[in-house]
Amino acid sequence: MILERLSVPIVLAPLAGGSSTPELTAAVSNAGGLGFVAAGYLTASALKERLDQARALTDAPLGVNVFVPGPPGDPAAVRAYAATLAEDAHGIDVGLGEARYGDDDWAAKIDLLAAERVPVVSFTFGCPDGEVIGRLRRAGSEVWVTVTAPEEAQQAVAAGCDVLVLQGIEAGGHRASFRDDPAGLGDGLGLLSLLQLVRARADLPLVAAGGIITGGGIAAVLAAGASAAQLGTAFMRTPEAGTAEVDRQALASDAPTALTRAFTGRLARGIRNRFLDRHTAQAPAAYPEVHFMTAPLRRAARAAGDPGLVNLWAGQAHELGRQVPAGQLVRELAAEARTASRQASDRLSATGDLSFSVRCGQRAECLARPQTVAACRL
Ligand SMILES: Cc1cc2nc3c(=O)[nH]c(=O)nc-3n(C[C@H](O)[C@H](O)[C@H](O)COP(=O)(O)O)c2cc1C
Repeated sequence: MILERLSVPIVLAPLAGGSSTPELTAAVSNAGGLGFVAAGYLTASALKERLDQARALTDAPLGVNVFVPGPPGDPAAVRAYAATLAEDAHGIDVGLGEARYGDDDWAAKIDLLAAERVPVVSFTFGCPDGEVIGRLRRAGSEVWVTVTAPEEAQQAVAAGCDVLVLQGIEAGGHRASFRDDPAGLGDGLGLLSLLQLVRARADLPLVAAGGIITGGGIAAVLAAGASAAQLGTAFMRTPEAGTAEVDRQALASDAPTALTRAFTGRLARGIRNRFLDRHTAQAPAAYPEVHFMTAPLRRAARAAGDPGLVNLWAGQAHELGRQVPAGQLVRELAAEARTASRQASDRLSATGDLSFSVRCGQRAECLARPQTVAACRL
């Protein structure tokens, strides 16, 4: 398994829509982690180009992440939402885009990946059927499926995936849920709960994602049974990332994040701004129609450096992100994780001694170990 071959248990989260670059992918893989190429929003031929560029920069394994297409949204709900956006579009002097449905070039991407024999293919927004999974596995790829709930994990295991990527509610960007339930806004399992619940039910290797941005966070998920940590926001301020300046500035702030469908019609976590606060309550579950509809507005706002209208995707711990080269970040995080797990282990040994002295504090053995007895406050 690829996870066993990594010298550092750190996975670069796929970051579709700007931050993902071949340079970032390669830098993480070259540092001993696993870099991902994000296929989302690209045509199959653009993906092939990105993949070739990343491969030219590293001989280490890398992965490709693909969006699983969902059902079209309700056209009437999309039209009603469009009417509420007119003022914002007028304010920045652009028209709304066409609210069209699309499958993100799904079939062509699967054909390409089956031919390219990429070490890992991961999926988000759903679970591919057994036929697609079987085809990729026969081509030599490991298949990873991203899940947000134990029921989704069960479904992915039954479909035959090799690894589960667990995404907690803290995560930046889109929720990976198989179905974007319009009734759900803000509810969902935190990473540690999800990890413990799935670990208790599934034997597969687990990769943990959501709000991890320090070595301590990495050590925590490894201790809870993950084989690796997948970090997205942590890499968005690295020089290799294609993150726009307006996003970089917002990421460096301590502004709060929230979940919203306002920008794309699919639940996603971003830094709160004018657009998010104004439109979250009305936005329908209609992806990718709303994504295409708001695209010109977001593009214009990014170019103008207006953070109020931009989808500032970020995980809950974004303010701790660092502006250092990606390879250096991987090495720093790995060193911190080692220190954190040593400290946790020391703490647990000390607690073990304490409970020993609590149980038999009056006995000769305890009196012979004065430092332990002195530390016992009970
Ligand atoms: C800007 C951005 C883009 C993302 N794009 C993708 C994507 O293309 N595919 C995917 O599976 N997850 C995507 N995610 C979610 C990540 O895979 C991951 O779950 C998340 O980054 C983890 O939380 P963190 O950002 O707090 O580290 C994206 C996240 C962000 C912040």
